[in-house]
Order: sequence, then structure tokens, then C-alpha cells
Amino acid sequence: MAGVVITGLQWGDEGKGKITDYLSNYFDCIVRYQGGDNAGHTVVIKNKKYKLHLVPSGVLQNKKVVIGNGVVVNPSVLLDEIKMLSENGINPDLMVSDRAHVIMEYHRILDGIEEEMLGKKKIGTTKRGIGPCYTDKVSRYGIRIGDIIDEENLREKLDRIIPVKQKIFDAYGIGKINVEKIFEEYISYGEKLRKYVGDTIYYLNSIIDEKEVLFEGAQGILLDIDYGTYPYTTSSNPVSGGVCTGAGISPKKIKKSIGIAKAYTTRVGMGAMPTEEKGKIGDFLAEKGNEYGTTTGRKRRCGWLDLVALKYSCMVSGIDEVALTKVDVLDGLKEVKVCTGYEVDGEIIDRFPSSLKTLEKCKPVYESMEGWDRARGKKRYEELPLNARKYVDYISDWLKIPVTIISTGMERNETIILET
Ligand code: GDP
Ligand code: IMO
Ligand code: MG
Repeated sequence: MAGVVITGLQWGDEGKGKITDYLSNYFDCIVRYQGGDNAGHTVVIKNKKYKLHLVPSGVLQNKKVVIGNGVVVNPSVLLDEIKMLSENGINPDLMVSDRAHVIMEYHRILDGIEEEMLGKKKIGTTKRGIGPCYTDKVSRYGIRIGDIIDEENLREKLDRIIPVKQKIFDAYGIGKINVEKIFEEYISYGEKLRKYVGDTIYYLNSIIDEKEVLFEGAQGILLDIDYGTYPYTTSSNPVSGGVCTGAGISPKKIKKSIGIAKAYTTRVGMGAMPTEEKGKIGDFLAEKGNEYGTTTGRKRRCGWLDLVALKYSCMVSGIDEVALTKVDVLDGLKEVKVCTGYEVDGEIIDRFPSSLKTLEKCKPVYESMEGWDRARGKKRYEELPLNARKYVDYISDWLKIPVTIISTGMERNETIILET
């Protein structure tokens, strides 16, 4: 008994929600450890689609769910999500860390303004206030969940922080911050959330040796603030190591790291993406894969699978097993390609560069394979078309990591589990 971590290996939206939901059957408790409502995790059960932004996907298997200290929480979004779940007959057994930071309305406003100021060089954030909230956490201007359930604390914090924010608002010419309105609004959220708030660090450490705990990463390694394509990243650490800081768990308690990879590549927002296909193939993948953001509805950029990036992600996240999703989306293609190197300045490299300038210059070197049809909905490896099996085997050989889960559709049961 110990922890298992799920991380996205690309630029997010790999299908973490689907795989977390599937695996939750075998776990007692599912935990988010970073990110906020920039995440959009979709789970489909018997044609019913659930979109989760903050509550761990394990909630749909009626498991204990925890929002750890490393998550940034917009209380209004969380309350809406709890309401949506209860309207669907699920009353979440939820615990929210008193240390988790709160996304305030001014964080969302600043996220929008900063993006606007960057003009063409904007990040393309989800405008959920994620960056400004993590910035305040690190600058020590943050408000935590524990503060909004305590009137005196919230008053003290606002008295200290708002004058600083007002100066920034003045510089941007945004207007006067109404402290009283903020106080009333957030205390009222606190009242509604109080029953869920607790010390998740003590709780998780009290169960981790006896129970099965699954940590559900949001975003992906290539969006990680340290390992991603900085500055076109998010502001947290999706990498498996993020569990230690984002949930208060020792690295010794993590027994397995599962990486989720889409069978091709997608990215929302700006930043380099070496295998991006802007023509017919890109459109095919976007339409067939329904590649429109769960959180913002934006069309995702699409391209072939990038094994250089994937190998790098597996390395930094210590991946033991890979779950390959959306294999069915490639159905019907005569040829599929995977990128096994980058050509840059006349040289072939097999490392994911840290410099964005270099990454922008990288031209993918492709291996081509024969395509397949009818992987869709398959539930057993033997039922998969031969070329799809060859594709999966090629990936696992190249990464030197077993692919243990293959997803062939969005429904929970459209999943193949491989024995290792
Ligand atoms: P997440 O953020 O990693 O949880 O991924 P999203 O939910 O944002 O995006 C993945 C999308 O692909 C969702 O609409 C899922 O329902 C869908 N999906 C997941 N796995 C599969 C699969 O194997 N095949 C197909 N066709 N769709 C899938
Ligand atoms: P899930 O968990 C895909 C991207 C945004 C933008 C960058 C920074 O569903 O995989 P932010 O709002 O975090 O400051 O935006 O990160 N991004 C995601 N892309 N999936 C996500 O989450 C994402 N969360 C953030 O599009 O490029
Ligand atoms: Mg998503």
C-alpha cells in the first residue's frame, strides 16, 4: 500500500480524467496536488459526460477525494462543481486542504490584463487567475482556504494585501477594489466550504501506509513551470515530484508513476510544438479527436506523436508504465508517423532542448508506419488491428517503458489493460 501518481506526459488533455476514473476502482482515495480550474478532466460513463476542474476524477467512483495544499482553488468554481455532482446523485466525500491557496477575483482580472499586455507574445492562459495566484503564494501575499473560514484572519489578510493590489490596479488604471465586497463574498464561500476543509497533510499521511492512494496530476510535463516550454507553461509542477510538495507526501511513499500519453500530440495556447501539423492531418486529428478544450473550448493544435518529448517527460516524471490514449482517433489513416529526433542547425538531436529558441528551430525527424482501421472501442489487445499493436509496441520499445493501458474510446470501458 502506498501512492501511485498519474501525470500527463505532453501539453495536457492526454486523457488523465478518463484513466484516473478507470483506475479509481482499485483505489481508496484520489488526490489532486497542483493546478487549479485551468484543468478540465472529462469522464464519460454510459454516454453521460462529466467535466471536472477541481474535484478529483475518482469522485465518480464514489471514492474519498482530496484537494491538496498545492492546488489553487477558486471557491466559486468548486461550489459549482459540488452542486453539479450532487445534481447527478453524487455527494462527494471531499477534503480540501486548509493550506491550499484561494484564487481571488483580482487574480482573474490580472491574468486577463497581463495577457492583453503581452499582445502577440501572450501565453494563451486559461484566464482562470492561476499564474497571479501562484505568484502571490510565492510572494507571500496569498490567501489560503483556512483564511476564508475565519473572519478575523480574512480581515487581517485583506488589510495587508489589498493596499498593494490597489497600487497595481491603479497602475493598470482598473479602478478601486471593493474590500468589503471581497470580504463578504469570500466569507460566504468559506461558510459553504467549511465542512470540507481540513488538514489534508495529516490525513494523507495517516492513510498512505494502509490504503491505496492515487494522485491525479493536472496539465502535463511540457507545461510544468520547471520542465516545460517556459515561459509558455502553467505556474505549477505537474511532474510526479509535485506530489511531495503539493500533497505533503514523502517520495518514499510513491511506489509507481503512470504517465498518460495521447497517441498523437496536442497543445492549447502558444509556444513551440515541433510536430504541429497545420494542414490536412492537423485538421483530421482535431475533428476526429474532438480536440476542443474542456475548460476554454479553444481548438487544440494537433500533430504527430513526439517521442523525443515523451522520453524526456518519462525521465523527469520517473514513469514506470505508460497509458496510451485515443489510439482510435488514428483509425482510417493510411500512414502514421512518430518523431524520433529533431534536426536543428544541420544536426540531429534526441534531447528535448531547454531553450525555446532552439525548440522553435527543431524540425521533426519522422519514422513512418502503416496505419490501421477499427481500433475504436476495442477492449482486448488481441482485438486491436495488427498495425495498431505494432504502433503501441514501437512506442514502448522506443521509450523502454511498458505500455500497460490502451484507451480506444472515451467511455470508461473502452479500455485495454495489458499484463506486464
Ligand atoms: P485530461 O485533461 O487529460 O483529463 O483530458 P481532457 O478530458 O481534457 O481531454 C481528453 C478528451 O479525450 C476528452 O474529451 C475525453 O473524453 C476524450 N478521450 C479520452 N480517452 C479517449 C480515447 O481513448 N479515445 C477517444 N476518442 N477519446 C478519448
Ligand atoms: P488539463 O489538466 C491543456 C495551458 C494553457 C496555456 C498554459 C498556461 O486539462 O490537462 P494557465 O491558465 O495554466 O496559466 O495557462 O497552460 N493549460 C492547459 N492546457 N490542459 C490543461 O489542463 C491546461 N492547463 C493549462 O492553455 O497554454
Ligand atoms: Mg483537459
